[in-house]
Amino acid sequence: VVDCLEEVLRELARQGIRPRFIYTIPTFHNPRGCTLSWPRRQKLVQLAAEYGVVVVEDEAYYDLRFVGDPLPSLAALDEEGWVLHVGTFSKIVVPGVRVGWACGHPEIIRRLEMFRSEGSLGPFLGRVVARYCGEGRLESHIQLLIRRYREKCHLMLEAIAQCFPPEVK
Ligand SMILES: Cc1ncc(COP(=O)(O)O)c(C=O)c1O
Repeated sequence: VVDCLEEVLRELARQGIRPRFIYTIPTFHNPRGCTLSWPRRQKLVQLAAEYGVVVVEDEAYYDLRFVGDPLPSLAALDEEGWVLHVGTFSKIVVPGVRVGWACGHPEIIRRLEMFRSEGSLGPFLGRVVARYCGEGRLESHIQLLIRRYREKCHLMLEAIAQCFPPEVK
């Protein structure tokens, strides 16, 4: 809730505290399912710059939108490099593959690289994902997933309408 965040950041700044980072899932939040509106995205990026706090946006579900228009990622709105955009192949290639990517200011990436050797990912899995993406199959696979999720959503809504009490929405 970006409005509350401003208050928190102000209070922390008053105490001389600068948070290391803010973590958020702007699109299709897990588990709440909500999506941060465009104005709130702009405000969050503006607050990050104003208070000098890195925002880690976890866009694990960004590519899986099956209804409505996509919103800009925080990274797309960020002109000063306060946003670290992270994604995962776990949702778009293989569940639980635990390979992802990070995109952000070179200084943040440089510091992240120090953790490279400590991750649980073996080189084999990394190569499998790289090969899969390199073969140009990712985009069509994402389109397939989007169709499947849309179908499942419609089926679920139909089932809810048919089988659940009317007050269930
Ligand atoms: C928002 C979000 N980020 C990341 C992950 C998991 O990513 P990984 O499998 O790469 O650890 C999940 C999985 O549930 C998730 O909901």
